[in-house]
Amino acid sequence: MKRRVGILISGGGSNMVALVKSMTGDHPARPVLVVSNDPEASGLEKARALGVATAVVDHRLFGKDRADFEAELDRVLREAGVEIVCLAGFMRILTPEFTRKWAGRMLNIHPSLLPLYKGLHTHARALEAGDGEHGCSVHEVTAELDGGPILGQARIAIDAGDTAQSLAVRLLPMEHALYPAVLRRYAADDRTPVFLSEGISAVS
Ligand code: GRF
Repeated sequence: MKRRVGILISGGGSNMVALVKSMTGDHPARPVLVVSNDPEASGLEKARALGVATAVVDHRLFGKDRADFEAELDRVLREAGVEIVCLAGFMRILTPEFTRKWAGRMLNIHPSLLPLYKGLHTHARALEAGDGEHGCSVHEVTAELDGGPILGQARIAIDAGDTAQSLAVRLLPMEHALYPAVLRRYAADDRTPVFLSEGISAVS
């Protein structure tokens, strides 16, 4: 029986596209729903073009009430029979209540080598720190923002002349390789971490 995956987006959804395209053949999971908190997210049309059902739970309609927003999000996911949630460019911070409900069944991709640079502006912070390398991490989502168990990482070198923009551009394809590789194992209940490096994919 294939595991039913729901993907939460807020924008372009390039990671969502990579995940959806990866779930074919003997992959143990299938995408059943893409949900955006922003009705204008261009990722919604991409999901529909790939034949995946979509939904919008517009956080602005719930004002400051995170609980009501998350209750609707939870309802939509459960109604679709979602078993694993993948946050992919989802820009809303989830409350501990929601993360507890989906504990052990929810993943996120974060554009840094966690535990470094939790939160925003990760590329600029790595540059400012003078780091020699940067990367992205896929982790289980817990109540601590960007703090759950790490399931995979991809590394890129920071080259002289790199900017936050050039790092983001070079990192995105690594994200598109890492997230599907981690989800494939996660959906098969295999927690062996995935490690990729720019130029070589040492999937261990
Ligand atoms: C990516 O950098 C990802 O790491 C972060 O959001 C950015 C956009 O992702 N979570 P996507 O193109 O919307 O998947």
